[in-house]
Formats: sequence, C-alpha cells, structure tokens
Amino acid sequence: MRQIRDIRPLKWEGDALLLLDQRKLPHKEEWITCKSYEDVAKAIEDMVIRGAPAIGVTAAYGVTLGAKELAQRAKDINEFKMLAELVINRLATTRPTAVNLFWALKRMKSIIDAGTNMEDILLALETEAKNIEMQDIDRNKKIGMYGAELLGNKETILTHCNTGALATAGFGTALGVIRAAYQLEKDIVVYVDETRPYLQGARLTAWELEQEGIPYYLITDNMAGWFMALGEISCIIVGADRIALNGDTANKIGTYTLSVLAKEHGIPFYIAAPSSTFDFSIKTGTEIPIEDRSPDEIVYCHCSDCRIAPEHAKVKNPAFDVTPHENISGIITERGVILSPNENKIKKFFEIED
Ligand code: MRU
Repeated sequence: MRQIRDIRPLKWEGDALLLLDQRKLPHKEEWITCKSYEDVAKAIEDMVIRGAPAIGVTAAYGVTLGAKELAQRAKDINEFKMLAELVINRLATTRPTAVNLFWALKRMKSIIDAGTNMEDILLALETEAKNIEMQDIDRNKKIGMYGAELLGNKETILTHCNTGALATAGFGTALGVIRAAYQLEKDIVVYVDETRPYLQGARLTAWELEQEGIPYYLITDNMAGWFMALGEISCIIVGADRIALNGDTANKIGTYTLSVLAKEHGIPFYIAAPSSTFDFSIKTGTEIPIEDRSPDEIVYCHCSDCRIAPEHAKVKNPAFDVTPHENISGIITERGVILSPNENKIKKFFEIED
C-alpha cells in the first residue's frame, strides 16, 4: 500500500471553526478563524471553503456556533428555537446548488426541534456536526474503495474541478477514487482540467495531487476532447453537487460537455458522490437551481487582477451544469455503484417506496 496524506480543510476547536483558506492555495496555507455563524456564512459565500460535502459540514458547525451565540441572549427555549431558525435560514442562503448544504442543515434543525433545553441542544448540535464530519470521511473512503474496484490496474483518468479532501471533510469523492486507486498501487495518471473560470482544478486538484505524489498533467478545459480523440483518456471521474431521483447530475460547469465527449469517444464517465448529494425530492435535473456567479470571475484575470474583456462585455457565468443520466456510466456511492443510473435503479438502490 502506498501512503497518503491526511489533508483536512477544516478544524473544529470547540468555540471556533478553522478553515483552510482555499482562495490562497496553492501559494499559501493560511487558516481563517470563524467565531460566529455569520463568519461561517461569509466564508462559504466567499469561497474560503467550497465543494458540496465540505459546505455541508461547514454549515453544520456554523449552526453549532450560532446556537452558542443565541444561548447567551435568548430568554427561553422558545425564543432560542425561533432565533435558531434564522441562523439556519441565513446559512441556507449562502450557495444554492449543492444539496449537501440543505441536507446538513436539516439534520441540525431536527436536533433543535427535538430538544427541550438549551444546554442539551448545544451539546447535541456539536456532536451532530462532528458526526456529519466523520461520516463524510468514512463515506468518501468507501466511495474510494468501490471506485478503485471499477478501475483497471493502469488508467489515465480525466477529472474536473476539485473533488478532493479540500471539497469534503477529507479524502474526497472523485479524487478520493483516484487516491484510493493510487494507494492500492495502481498505475494512475490524472489529466486535470484547469476548470475555468474559478480554476479549482489548476489551483486545488493539482495541489492535492502534488501533496500525494500522484502523476498528473494540467490541461485547459478545451483540450479535454482532443485528448479523448487521441485515445489518451481511459475514463472520466467527476463529483456532484446535486443528483436528482432519475440520476441527472449537477456539477461544476463543463461537466456536461465532458459527458457528451465521453459518449462520442466511448469512454466510461463516472460520478462519485455520497448519498447526501442525492435529492430525492426532485425527479429530474431541470429542477436543480443553478448558481450564477459574478461576471468578474470571467472578465478579470484571476492572478493579476487585470481586466481581460472589454469594459462593456456582457457575461454569463453559471457555476454548474446538469449532465443527463443517459450520459453517465455509473454513480459511485458509499453503498456501491449504480451502473447506467435511472429513476428505477436509484429507487431500488436506496429502497425508496413509490
Ligand atoms: O463551486 P465549487 O468549487 O463549490 O464547485 C465544486 C464542484 O462542483 C465539485 O465537483 C462538487 O462539489 C463535488 S465535491 C466532492
């Protein structure tokens, strides 16, 4: 077995949440201290931390911090519960697409709803946030194991965005599969899409792969199709921000294009995601809200702050797209793999009644 590093994007300190500032990577490893739920909400909005599962875990600690703040000023349990709802609502406004955020907030809300005194609720919230964090790492390792089983001993894997330890509580989803395969001494080379416009691939995935010593090539997003045509890519593995009941999957913008190219070239296209990324309340991907981000991400050069585009350029900047389930070879979850996913298979897999 090859050794891997235990990279974590967050640390809970009892009265504060420390977040590795992902905006500064790969150049600096700086930690930001969040002491209030508002600090946490801003950190999610400002992309200090990002990635669907990581946002969920962070928000869970945000509720814990918020509840501690409220316990000092609420006059009774009823006022505490009423104010706690405002904290949850604020955290829910941070980013709209990744369902893990709402999933984690729902878990935290049910603790508050069930509680009868503030002291017990505070303890239970802290325990629940830690559970969500630890469960995420555990699930990712299982995803890694199931994913690695799907792969041959020699693979050239193309991935998009950052789905690694930084995007989760640890280990990663799609990058977790790559990590697990590398750990098992498979001969792995990764093609990393730079992932315009926010460059999660160039900045974060490349950084993680370097930490692990996993061989990779950084490519621009528009090179992916050409490398597929040249026969250099044996499979594609990406993450997910929300998966509808029929398997349609929202992920970082550019994922849909990759899925179409994969189909054209007969290359297996896998999604790796924990069950917390499924949204069984929506039947298809058309119902997934897609976050629009600032035009500045496109019209300015990321590093030098200089403007690239003409002053009056109109910009569209959706952060995610939706890949139809027909384009997906399999969804790798912590419970196993759903091959050629569709509504019936997903319902059966998760034992969902009609
Ligand atoms: O905008 P981001 O960086 O939060 O987008 C992240 C992605 O799209 C990831 O692929 C997804 O969240 C899965 S992370 C395990």
